[in-house]
Amino acid sequence: MLFIKKIEDLKAVLTTKRGVGKTVGLVPTMGALHQGHLSLMERSSQENDCTVVSIFVNPIQFNNSQDLDNYPSNMVADVKMLEAAKVDIVFAPARQEVYPKSPLTRMTFSPLDSILEGAFRDNHFSGVGVVVSKLFNIVGPNKAYFGQKDLQQYLIIKQLVTDLNFPIELVCAPIVRDDNGLALSSRNQRLSDKGIKQATVLSRILKMAEQKAKEGVPLTQIKKDAAELCTDNNVQLEYIEFIDTGEFCLLKEYKGYHNLAICIAGYVEDIRLIDNILIQE
Ligand code: PAJ
Repeated sequence: MLFIKKIEDLKAVLTTKRGVGKTVGLVPTMGALHQGHLSLMERSSQENDCTVVSIFVNPIQFNNSQDLDNYPSNMVADVKMLEAAKVDIVFAPARQEVYPKSPLTRMTFSPLDSILEGAFRDNHFSGVGVVVSKLFNIVGPNKAYFGQKDLQQYLIIKQLVTDLNFPIELVCAPIVRDDNGLALSSRNQRLSDKGIKQATVLSRILKMAEQKAKEGVPLTQIKKDAAELCTDNNVQLEYIEFIDTGEFCLLKEYKGYHNLAICIAGYVEDIRLIDNILIQE
């Protein structure tokens, strides 16, 4: 496995690979890796000759400096995991390498970024759009891998790829969960054992919401029940929303849509967690 920190070094290695017809898969991450990240890498390794995993905690997608400072990082453990996963190249640039100067480019994805995460995290998706575009230009992958865990992020990147003609095929991989249904997240590492237990209520609420919506319970009632369950479990609910993933708009009533997802965000022990489920008819 190659561990590369400089853009020029990475470009040189990848130019050689592409010169002999190798295909390249990219898995962008912010490190503190877990089985969810690993599932993306495994998929990339199956589908490409060479898998590049980037590890870069992107400062411009954090709207809260405390959240950025507290973001977990463990490069030693990450490298061990990447070696075991037989990843070909790790690209772990310093902040200065990616942003020698603060970028002036801003991206908006209205209306995709005006709801859910976009409504609660100012400039978050602009920062994601800029760093992902940079990575696409630096790596030039054939395919890039993202998780359904960040559903809105995936849909925004899909729009970015269409709008800017990036010649890249996107793959959206399913959410990896622990045995109690909690969606794996780097942020879970900051939770106490009690917090981990409390956080499992998020996925339970999503299942409950799906079932009740299908039974015809009004969405306003389902949201009330969700808020109560959160309070009972010491979770500060930020939102629970039903969305049409085709139009990417919030739904006020359930009409048996095909492209439907339920998205939730809340704080457990002051740590912000998100989760979602896609509803299949
Ligand atoms: P990060 O949170 O590290 O996530 C990297 C990728 O792993 C994302 O595509 C995310 O959706 C996916 N992922 C996270 N948890 C997952 C799980 N439990 N199951 C499956 N996939 C999961 O998302 C980012 O980093 C950043 O915003 C990034 C795209 C790297 C841009 O900075």
